[in-house]
Amino acid sequence: MERTLAICKPDAVRKNVVGEIITMISNAGFKIIGLKMLRLTKEQAGAFYAVHKERPFYEELVEFMCSGPVVVLALEKENAVADYRTLIGATDPAEAAEGTIRKRFAASKGENAVHGSDSVENGKYEVAFFFSEAEIAANVR
Ligand code: RTP
Ligand code: MG
Repeated sequence: MERTLAICKPDAVRKNVVGEIITMISNAGFKIIGLKMLRLTKEQAGAFYAVHKERPFYEELVEFMCSGPVVVLALEKENAVADYRTLIGATDPAEAAEGTIRKRFAASKGENAVHGSDSVENGKYEVAFFFSEAEIAANVR
């Protein structure tokens, strides 16, 4: 079993489509093993996306990610990381495949409704970023 982290970004919360996104995640066979709503601080958003620190869109990304509450989900499934990336679609909704979450709900490359871990290693790291071992353990037993 593999784990990955999903985030319904502030634009998805503002548009009131979190329920529909979670339905798509459930229908795709993912087990939800953690779920919470929170508002990221600038420090948290900056640390979470630290890999993009040198990119031109970093400041804008951090501002956007703390512009409102987000809903974070820890997901479990065989091949969870790659399968969830397939479910969300390309970063730019103009390039996202039909039936993907971003095709349905993303407005632009910046405001693109959801996040997904991009490797098995990052999946583990990002789940641990938001959920303690005890929280996850309580949900999987
Ligand atoms: P994410 O990490 O949020 O799941 O998105 P991703 O892997 O598909 O894309 P990534 O390259 O990791 O970029 C992280 C987020 O930064 C914003 N972005 N804006 N304006 C731009 O050119 C641009 N490029 C990236 C997006 O919110 C993207 O999801
Ligand atoms: Mg990424």
